[in-house]
Amino acid sequence: MISIAFFNNKGGVGKTSLVYHTAWMFAELGHRVLAVDLDPQSNLSIMALDEERLEELWPDNDNPDTLHGALAPLVGGTGDVRPAHIESLAGPLGMLVGDLALSRIEDDLSTEWPRCLEGRERAFRVTTAFWRVIREAADRHQASLVLIDVGPNLGAINRAALVAASHVVVPVAPDLFSLQGLRNLGPTLRQWRQSWSQAFVKRPATLMELPKGEMNPVGYVLVQHAERLGRPTKAYGKWERQLPEVYSESVVGQSDAFSATNQIHRIKHYRSLMPLAMAARKPMFALRSADGAIGAHQTSVQKCHEDFTTLSREIARRVGLRQ
Ligand SMILES: Nc1ncnc2c1ncn2[C@@H]1O[C@H](COP(=O)(O)OP(=O)(O)OP(=O)(O)O)[C@@H](O)[C@H]1O
Ligand SMILES: [Mg+2]
Repeated sequence: MISIAFFNNKGGVGKTSLVYHTAWMFAELGHRVLAVDLDPQSNLSIMALDEERLEELWPDNDNPDTLHGALAPLVGGTGDVRPAHIESLAGPLGMLVGDLALSRIEDDLSTEWPRCLEGRERAFRVTTAFWRVIREAADRHQASLVLIDVGPNLGAINRAALVAASHVVVPVAPDLFSLQGLRNLGPTLRQWRQSWSQAFVKRPATLMELPKGEMNPVGYVLVQHAERLGRPTKAYGKWERQLPEVYSESVVGQSDAFSATNQIHRIKHYRSLMPLAMAARKPMFALRSADGAIGAHQTSVQKCHEDFTTLSREIARRVGLRQ
């Protein structure tokens, strides 16, 4: 299973928007895709679904059709995970719906992680709950690709989400905080990978098939800022020039002569296309004049389509997804 987490502990760098747009683009390119909303803030679900549907999926009490619903028996101690509802966004594109209640399992994930090293079965069941739910849903959906959205932190939910990821794409913005984010992210990923591989060999015989926790770094996607008044673009250039080296050193763990190739693609800030896309519940590159994309917007829609085609094809090439 090729599963890619879009991850950066720096907030607001475009993780959710990239998962949403690349998921649609991969579907357009002929792949069956499962998008997974593992951020308790559930922004991916909010982006993809209208309010009426969200009200149905998030009633007042239990939410059986969200990811939390799929984990509820395990968390509640009455059983193991159950198959998750796959929300259909388009024929080939399905989504596992997020839930604010996911944040309630942070403590459990935190407690059980070190117990994996003792070979305890429940520890493995809890730590790999996301992977097992995703794996089952991806098989049912016959997905060749899973794209995972996570929140901006280095907590236990994200650690379990990353254990479920064969690959990691890092969205970055050209600013000081993004560079600092990379400096935290790289060593943390290495530590998670290493701890999981130590735990993996202790897995109980009852749970032989578990994720390898590869978290292979695919590269970074530079998401440009909206040009702000009084902020000269020169300042962005300064941070952008440092990105290849900081990414290589911090995330790949070596500074190499090919560090520039770690940039997968650069995505333009499409300003007013995004609010139009949110209102139409469509990706920006699929907007039509009926959605309000008129005049100069048409050219931007086209450019956006090219941007996401290039990005998705390059990700596919790097992760070895058959094109
Ligand atoms: N290419 C783009 N063009 C226009 N607007 C964008 C683009 N990418 C992201 N945005 C906007 O920037 C803001 C932050 O993006 P997004 O929510 O995707 O970031 P995030 O990294 O998922 O944030 P968080 O860390 O809070 O989860 C949003 O308002 C989004 O609509
Ligand atoms: Mg987000």
